[in-house]
Amino acid sequence: MRDARVGVVGATGAVGAIVLEILRERGYENVRPFASARSAGSRLPDGSVIEEATPEALSAGDLDLCFFSVGTSASRELVPHAVRGGAICVDKSAAFRLEPGIPLVVPEVNGDSALEHNGVLANPNCCAIPLALALKPLHNAAGLRAVRVATYQSASGAGAQRLQRLLNEPQAEHDLAMDWDYDGEEFEEESKLREETRKILELPELPVSATCVRVPVPVGHAESVWLETEEPLSPAQARELLARAESVRVEKFPTPGQAAGGDEALVGRIRRDPAAENGLSLFIACDNLRKGAALNGIQIAELVLAGRPVPA
Ligand SMILES: NC(=O)c1ccc[n+]([C@@H]2O[C@H](COP(=O)([O-])OP(=O)(O)OC[C@H]3O[C@@H](n4cnc5c(N)ncnc54)[C@H](OP(=O)(O)O)[C@@H]3O)[C@@H](O)[C@H]2O)c1
Repeated sequence: MRDARVGVVGATGAVGAIVLEILRERGYENVRPFASARSAGSRLPDGSVIEEATPEALSAGDLDLCFFSVGTSASRELVPHAVRGGAICVDKSAAFRLEPGIPLVVPEVNGDSALEHNGVLANPNCCAIPLALALKPLHNAAGLRAVRVATYQSASGAGAQRLQRLLNEPQAEHDLAMDWDYDGEEFEEESKLREETRKILELPELPVSATCVRVPVPVGHAESVWLETEEPLSPAQARELLARAESVRVEKFPTPGQAAGGDEALVGRIRRDPAAENGLSLFIACDNLRKGAALNGIQIAELVLAGRPVPA
């Protein structure tokens, strides 16, 4: 598996840099960074030279695996070329997530769905991943009836340039923002969170209402969650279920700063919601660049590679 020939498309971006870092940590040796013509030819800090992600380069047949973190329209254009060249593609944009037949995978939640694919697997939205990690064990135990969520999303969630802008900005200018596409009623991020959570949990009718807000935090997204279950579930039972859940760590007061750099979704503030029957509230914090993006994508690829021999 570790000798797979890997392409990282979007290698100069916020997510791509972390994909490269985690691949290195995990011992992958045959990794090629790709980006747009803007950065092609320049060198990354490790000395590797960035290639331009052209249709010809991606379809040449010399990649087993290709990670895309380039944005929706570039993914729509480029991913099919890499698939044509025989690479298994893990895409982190919204381009393919809701397409029927394309697995949208959080390995700990619906890993089995990764085993049937047509070359493309989608990595969910950076808030949908930790939300699904926390909801799944509670759903298995008591059945989810409704979910309400308010997010507090960091600047790095909007890319490397946005992160740099926050770091350069005087603190007095820090503000909340709502900077996603708006359809007059809802932000795209809010509908993504609803539709992706439904797809991952295989609960197509689950009522999910979301309010998404960007906060002046460099890395780490947080989420306040109010959920209702079919059967009663006490905070103590929920805490115990979450303490046993994979890639979840129960913390008293989880914060983005605490989650940044780590590989788990931190879940805390687990308490009864007195405003609902069978209601529970909890608070989640997770590194949006690692488990929210790069790490989850690599875990998806490893699931697939484990089920398929890599060409010599
Ligand atoms: N940031 C997060 O927390 C997060 C989490 C989950 C998913 N995502 C998704 O991941 C994707 C990338 O996000 P990001 O935050 O890493 O963005 P970013 O920091 O702005 O990086 C974008 C990357 O895409 C490359 N790129 C842009 N257009 C390209 C093209 N036509 N061909 C080849 N490369 C191209 C850029 O290369 P140049 O340097 O050459 O311009 C850069 O490497 C987006 O779809 C985003 O929604 C992000």
